[in-house]
Amino acid sequence: QPDVKISNLGLHKGHCVEVRGRITKNVNRFAVNLGRDAKNLIMHCNPRFDYSVDKDTIILNAKINDVWGTEQKEPAFPFKAGSETLLIFDFDDCITVHLPDGKEIKFACRFPIDVVNYLDLCGLELTSITVR
Ligand code: GAL
Repeated sequence: QPDVKISNLGLHKGHCVEVRGRITKNVNRFAVNLGRDAKNLIMHCNPRFDYSVDKDTIILNAKINDVWGTEQKEPAFPFKAGSETLLIFDFDDCITVHLPDGKEIKFACRFPIDVVNYLDLCGLELTSITVR
């Protein structure tokens, strides 16, 4: 059950989505999901404190017709449960994720950006979302 859901983002190539929120205390992971709908995600950004085999690892993935694709794992982990964080997603030929410590991760677009209207947050209490 997501904490926040938006269904009319109207994203296009060149847009940038800034998500600011407080990571819920005691979660083992949190997620920012962007896509066409909950079953078609162009970006599942899922920092894991301790979930499955992953400790302090960011998992990026896409979901198409409710089926997860291949995970991209990143060892960077500038997050603390219970504290405020900022994630910025730049949508261009690929998606660039800007981490709160200034590092960047690139992730390929696995379907067109023009259909991206949906955003949800899990384990993250929303402060603000800015699309520009
Ligand atoms: C699964 C997990 C999903 C999602 C997915 C990403 O193991 O249950 O919630 O994080 O990995 O690949």
